[in-house]
Amino acid sequence: MAKTYNVAVVGATGAVGIEFLKLIKDRHFPIGELRLLASSRSAGKTLEFDGQQITIGETTKDSFSGVDIAFFSAGGGRSLEFAPAAAEAGAIVVDNSSAYRMDPTVPLIVPEINMEDAKVNHGIIANPNCSTIIMLMAVGPIHKKWPVKRIIVSTYQSTSGAGAAGMEELVNQTHAYLNGDPITPKVFPHQIAFNLFSHNTKINEYGYNEEEWKMVCETQKILHVADMAVTATCVRVPILRAHSESINIEFEGERPSVEQIRALIDESAGVEVVDDAAMNHFPMPLEASGKYDVLVGRIRHDISNAKAVDLFVSGDQLLKGAALNGIQIAEGMIQQGWI
Ligand code: A2P
Repeated sequence: MAKTYNVAVVGATGAVGIEFLKLIKDRHFPIGELRLLASSRSAGKTLEFDGQQITIGETTKDSFSGVDIAFFSAGGGRSLEFAPAAAEAGAIVVDNSSAYRMDPTVPLIVPEINMEDAKVNHGIIANPNCSTIIMLMAVGPIHKKWPVKRIIVSTYQSTSGAGAAGMEELVNQTHAYLNGDPITPKVFPHQIAFNLFSHNTKINEYGYNEEEWKMVCETQKILHVADMAVTATCVRVPILRAHSESINIEFEGERPSVEQIRALIDESAGVEVVDDAAMNHFPMPLEASGKYDVLVGRIRHDISNAKAVDLFVSGDQLLKGAALNGIQIAEGMIQQGWI
């Protein structure tokens, strides 16, 4: 009989947690026991999985005995509090928060790019920031073939990045706006319906917000280029669940042709070319939503820089930007015999 793994999902009731459950079922993840964990608010309630009602437990340091793989998506604070206990209990933690990403002893993995980095670990493996993953799905294969010197990226990020409550806020504010009712932002600092704003995270000493800084540092770590020049502008837009990004890539040497890039994206795993100039059909968040692949288009030579290329991508933030990448990390570990 094929080997099975006892799996815990921490944050099972959240926007990413729900996607984890769907993926475990849809991808026939080899589960033995499935343990659903959340806060004390959810403890005792049930969630449906594959036709069965599973009771949710409260996350504590004692929740992980017998667990082989723990998917964490309950915020950085909970990862800091509980992930070491899970690793101590013998589980491989795949952590969707930013808590451990820049820890030099913790692998930061996009399976299509640097799965081999996960081999040496201390029980915790970090899932990168959603915008970073979605960008690197296009830039990673290009960089492997034609080394990249500098990346300039601007994001158009969906409300799902702020969890289920963020998505609900967009829907509620849209209803309120159309009904002429007053709008009081709760999850986001500003009105999100019929508006957009600079990503709602703290600005650092260099003038970058936390999201932008994650894109800079995580890209350098995943691509193993400590001094890769990356600059980012991250913006929240009134979209439910897929992030889009405008990306300018400057190469070390001669830039490849548009046809060469298109052919490479075509043959790379996890990305799909959507680049129909005649129909003006390019990556859109609505078409990326619910899809595993990141859509890549607007592939063109930058007329302002003879060494640069422009791209536009859309990817499902809850799937490849979070839960799917996490599941693929675990699948990769199993495939390699590292779990
Ligand atoms: P709960 O539903 O019990 O609050 P989202 O990213 O959609 O906002 O979801 C956050 C997830 O993190 C939810 O599953 C939430 O559970 C969980 N969570 C929040 N606080 C805690 C906590 N103190 N311990 C464990 N899980 C938590």
